[in-house]
Order: sequence, then structure tokens, then C-alpha cells
Amino acid sequence: MKEFETDSHGGTAAQCKTTTRRLVVNAAFLKDIKDDNHDLKVLLDKITPLILYQQTAKNHWPELIALIGDLRDQLALHFSLEEAYGYFDDAVVSSPWLSVIAESLRNEHPRLFSRILDLADQSLEICSDSHGQVSQFIRRFDDFRRAFEMHEEKELKLILDSLDDDIGVGD
Ligand SMILES: [Fe+2]
Repeated sequence: MKEFETDSHGGTAAQCKTTTRRLVVNAAFLKDIKDDNHDLKVLLDKITPLILYQQTAKNHWPELIALIGDLRDQLALHFSLEEAYGYFDDAVVSSPWLSVIAESLRNEHPRLFSRILDLADQSLEICSDSHGQVSQFIRRFDDFRRAFEMHEEKELKLILDSLDDDIGVGD
């Protein structure tokens, strides 16, 4: 894509510059969102001991249903904030490889959100007396949690890489 540069007098410069518009990371905001996500950490810390043992999950099933529903709502907010402030569309960037990673990570949001939506729905339908249903739910939640944590780790790495790219480290 070609874009005309504007000179200091507001006029259009004679030369035109070739640029590529891609997705980019607003590293400072994305880091702030992650650092401030206290409610998300609190929810995950409440869920963890309840699903550590199947019997504990069965004994606290109504509480678990409420917590998984809260986690779904919190993740809706978390992903919305990241997409509103942490990623920019059509930004002019010098590092296409960072754009590719950013786009791939942003594209993981709907897939992750769809999984927590399903888990929240399933938690309502499960018979908490059934060992099989409860253990399957716990496995699926553990899988989701691992996928979410991997996503978060990759975003943190992207933030660091974006900052390095800004100051020219590793070039
Ligand atoms: Fe994310």
C-alpha cells in the first residue's frame, strides 16, 4: 500500500512512501491490562482448589457453576479490553513477523471464549453425582486453562518482543 507523507507545512510531499498496514501491539496498554487483571486471577485461584479432587468438585458443584459463569464474564471483558487497547488494526509497522504473531494471538480469543462458553453451559447440565461427567468436565476445564495460560504467556512474550523491536534490540 502506498501512502503520501505530509510535510511540516501541511502540504503533500513530492515523494511517496511504501508502507505496509498490519496489526500491531500496543505493548504498554496490553501489559497494563495483564498486570491489572486482579479479578481474573482471584477467580482462577478460587476455581483451582475446587477442581483439584473430584469429590471436592462434586461437593461444591453449585459454587463451581457460579465461578465458571463469573470466569466466562470476566474473560469476555478481558478479551474485549485487549482487543480495544492492546491490539491496533491498520497500524504501520516495520516488523511484519510481529504483526503475524499478534494477529494469530488475537484470533485465539474467539476460540478460547467459545470454549469457556461451552464449559459454563456444560456445568449447568452436569449431574454432580456422576463421577464420569464430573471427571470429564474437570479434564476439559484443565485443557482450557492450559490453553489460556499458554495464550497469556505468548502475549507476554509478544509484548517483550514489541518493546525490543521499538528500541532495536536484537536487530
Ligand atoms: Fe489475549
